[in-house]
Amino acid sequence: MNSNDTYDLSWDEWDELQRPAAETTDFDGVVDAALSRRGFLTGVVAYGSGAAVMGAGLLSGTSAQAQTASRFAFSPIAAQTDFTVHVPDGYNWQPLAKWGEPLFSDAEPLSQETGVSVGSSDRVFGENTDGMEAFVVDGRQVIAVNHEYVNTKANLPHTGGEVQSADDVLTLQNMQGVTVMEIAESADGWAIVKDSDLNRRITQNTPMTVAGPAAGHPLLQTEADPAGATVLGTMNNCGAGKTPWGTYLTCEENFNGYFGSTDPEFTAPDDYARYGIGMEGRYAYEKFDARFDTSKNPNEPHRFGYIVEIDPADPSSTPIKHTALGRFKHENAAAVLAPDGRVVVYLGDDERGEFLYKFVSANAYTPGGPTSALLDEGQLYAAKFSTDLTGEWVALTPEATGMDEAEIAIFTRQAASKVGATTMDRPEWVAVNPVAVEAYCALTNNKNRGVKPNAGGDDTAANGPNPRDENNYGQIVRWYPSNDDHAADTFAWDLYVMAGNPTVHEGAYGGSANVNEGNLFNSPDGMQFDSTGMLWIQTDGDDDNEGDFAGMGNNQMLAGDPATGQIERFLTGPNGSEVTGLTWSADKRTMFVGIQHPAAPFPDGEGMLPRSSIIAVKRDDNERVG
Ligand code: FEO
Ligand code: CA
Ligand code: CA
Repeated sequence: MNSNDTYDLSWDEWDELQRPAAETTDFDGVVDAALSRRGFLTGVVAYGSGAAVMGAGLLSGTSAQAQTASRFAFSPIAAQTDFTVHVPDGYNWQPLAKWGEPLFSDAEPLSQETGVSVGSSDRVFGENTDGMEAFVVDGRQVIAVNHEYVNTKANLPHTGGEVQSADDVLTLQNMQGVTVMEIAESADGWAIVKDSDLNRRITQNTPMTVAGPAAGHPLLQTEADPAGATVLGTMNNCGAGKTPWGTYLTCEENFNGYFGSTDPEFTAPDDYARYGIGMEGRYAYEKFDARFDTSKNPNEPHRFGYIVEIDPADPSSTPIKHTALGRFKHENAAAVLAPDGRVVVYLGDDERGEFLYKFVSANAYTPGGPTSALLDEGQLYAAKFSTDLTGEWVALTPEATGMDEAEIAIFTRQAASKVGATTMDRPEWVAVNPVAVEAYCALTNNKNRGVKPNAGGDDTAANGPNPRDENNYGQIVRWYPSNDDHAADTFAWDLYVMAGNPTVHEGAYGGSANVNEGNLFNSPDGMQFDSTGMLWIQTDGDDDNEGDFAGMGNNQMLAGDPATGQIERFLTGPNGSEVTGLTWSADKRTMFVGIQHPAAPFPDGEGMLPRSSIIAVKRDDNERVG
């Protein structure tokens, strides 16, 4: 399975190949189309009359904004199919950081012919930039950014992409993880501050502390770490988040793909199947690094799939894995304070038919007060949506699940299945509106909706927020916490947008009313609100621009007005790339956007290697962009 061909697959394609979900001959597949359709229409209608669902005064800020003319400060751009980035007239972009760019002057830069040497691989900007957040540390600007995975052909040119040695494994391990880097703007634009004492690489070998209910549990103990308290590394760091106290949250997504067994007779523990941990790892780590060989270290996979906290202000700090926030394919971590100061963190599990979660801290955050236990003591919930446009957060307690606290933290998917949480269409990023008490989750797509159950056997018939069978377009669900309190157990919900293609389909697959020929897109994924309450939507979908996807062009970034539902295209990425990761400079005059896995030479042009990059986008007049 480690042929080069498999390296070209997306993570969910690879998962399907490894462990296809059971075909469902016994699943009666009775999707009540009428009810489903009614749910969809109701959702869209409710969007237009949202105040009735939301409660009086909830959206007073955005309602006022809706009275004004368009909030969009740019002229929307057309879909594109070429190999560069486009932004509206009056805006410009330049690269900030590229795969293989040195963070320290003792690192060799990436070579066109030989890539990055193993010796420099933990001293350069890693590959496949993803979620990121900006911080100000002692007046200096810092970005923490994820490097989600690696393209082996690009990083191991001497083997043509095949993993053949421990050094090859180490190179790949070092090109992933997290970069923390100081950045600065000069007359020449933004750049990394090389050799800054704040620069740091966190890799798949960086020691981290385990905290929360699973810390020290026998399921986390290994020969190298009999205490189950110190894990080496973080992996498949996808989306991100920021705590109210100024630390970075990085989210471990497709961790299952890094493990395999060198012993073909190895009998995997029962719990592996739900998480897709198979017999062969995607990068053959298990052949050269015994830590990833499940026949030798069967508990090592239990030590990944968590939210990890990193202090960008202290390069010597030890990252912390917060097991209270559950173990699953974490997309991002959207933190917000409840009115009483408790910390609420919304969390998506990006897998077909898995769930949406939130964590509520036991204690309140107070500025300047202690924060060390806030993400370790609290309650994890899974979302249950009803077709009447209400929903509840079901607490994953020992009473409700029959599992103890540590088991809930380690086998969170199984716990959520036990309480009947709603199976979702691949929850990607959650974003919380800073000017209204509401949150949004991008449900990117789900070709298995109405076709197969999830890996736990849970029904995936079309349901309220996931109303379309074989959903290849995706949608964004929005919820309004009861009593304007993100810590509340109940909420009202509607659909902000159903992506679709009205030039190809009528009805549900044509999309909701706020989708039109001018803003076509599929597979919403990354999402961030800017400080004004504008929702920025990034896509990771089919960019063939044909058939069902005709007119959508390359992956892109759009802006959405929460109050009116208007969505306009702001940026298009190079063909083959995913647009993912968004943050702003301290003065909000620059937005930093991630361009992941461009297929053709980008950003340096013909004859140069394609390089995942962060770009800096500005207005020509240097006014604010968020
Ligand atoms: Fe790494 Fe679900 O995106
Ligand atoms: Ca994503
Ligand atoms: Ca995605």
